[in-house]
Amino acid sequence: MYTTLATLALAATAVAAPTYGGFSSPIVVTSASGNAVCVQGNVAVTATTTRNVKLNLPIAANQTVVTQTLIDMIKAGSTFQADVVGGPNTVSGTFNINARICAPAKTAAKSNTVQILTHGVGFDKSYWDVAKGFSYIDAAAAAGYSTFSYDRLGTGLSDHPADANQIVQAPLEQEILHQLILGLKAGTYGGSKYSNVIGVGHSFGSFLTQGITNTYPTDLAAAVFTGFTLNTAGVVPFETALDLTIASQNNPLRFGLLNNGYLVANNIVGNQFAFFAPLSGFPYTNLQIAEATKQTVTYGELITLGNVIAPAASFTGPIDVVNGDSDFPFCDGTCTEALNAQVRAALYPAASDGSDSYIAPQAAHGLNLHYSANTAYSQIQNFVSSNGF
Ligand SMILES: *[C@@H]1O[C@H](CO)[C@@H](O)[C@H](O)[C@H]1NC(C)=O
Repeated sequence: MYTTLATLALAATAVAAPTYGGFSSPIVVTSASGNAVCVQGNVAVTATTTRNVKLNLPIAANQTVVTQTLIDMIKAGSTFQADVVGGPNTVSGTFNINARICAPAKTAAKSNTVQILTHGVGFDKSYWDVAKGFSYIDAAAAAGYSTFSYDRLGTGLSDHPADANQIVQAPLEQEILHQLILGLKAGTYGGSKYSNVIGVGHSFGSFLTQGITNTYPTDLAAAVFTGFTLNTAGVVPFETALDLTIASQNNPLRFGLLNNGYLVANNIVGNQFAFFAPLSGFPYTNLQIAEATKQTVTYGELITLGNVIAPAASFTGPIDVVNGDSDFPFCDGTCTEALNAQVRAALYPAASDGSDSYIAPQAAHGLNLHYSANTAYSQIQNFVSSNGF
């Protein structure tokens, strides 16, 4: 009974659940193990970019066109980029972004800091809260951190613009991330203002987070890149394994309302190749979850994702580079600390000495679905707290 009362008393002092502020159609949810209490709903984000590109690439008429496009894109000596990319394209709009803000439910919150979590290709925000024991949000909350995760434009419950190739591109998604960061600092979402926003990305989400540090160097107090190095030798086999398929034909129940611009990994075999290794590194149920919850990508994204990467000469915060040792797209199957170190050497000349890196054992590109994700989560929370946030 003492334990119960003490626990309740602790909970009563620690819990400051987010409010519904900034969300439409909000619901209250908890993270997989209950370490975090969250508000989830749509937030309206107005964003403009001058850096999308005009693509001479209509929405595909059918699957044979989608497959031929992939062949054109990845073959040796491809002139695809030059053939389809036109000039810059200014795009603006107000988009519904489905987001979830979570606060620690059982531990005292570090109330000035929030981590913004941007997922990669093939997933949505559930990547950060996969299942009990595989939840970044639980691990961050246990360390006192609030988190803000969201479905990128064109995925999950967020808007899916009809003009998938021209609108759903990396530069616009970077501007949406920028607006979300400004909103967190202003207290727009969930009722609290955060002076320190930590950017945490996975794969394409790391590209967008990197884009923030080079374009808006004071947005983020620190940046964490997972599933990200400068070695892209494995990207072509990765994209081949995805075997991109028109989503509405692949799974009419989940994607039937989307046009042919929205593509998914064809099946669980390619999903394993792209995101999972070695066999001892993950429960098979997590591969099944990844396949059952797989999300879409557009050719607009695949063609432009590299455009947001640039040296962040003015970013003076710390960075943390975290990869699974068996990551295929970004290490060709073998990640090393040498590859991790290249990220700081090439892109972060002014990063602070609190920077760090980590290789998670027995894990591939879908790091969060592997057993060693929890050691990576611990390393990341230690990185953030040891830098004073
Ligand atoms: C797919 O679309 C292309 C381009 O419009 C067309 O040439 C081709 O006949 C179509 N293929 C099938 C199987 O309908």
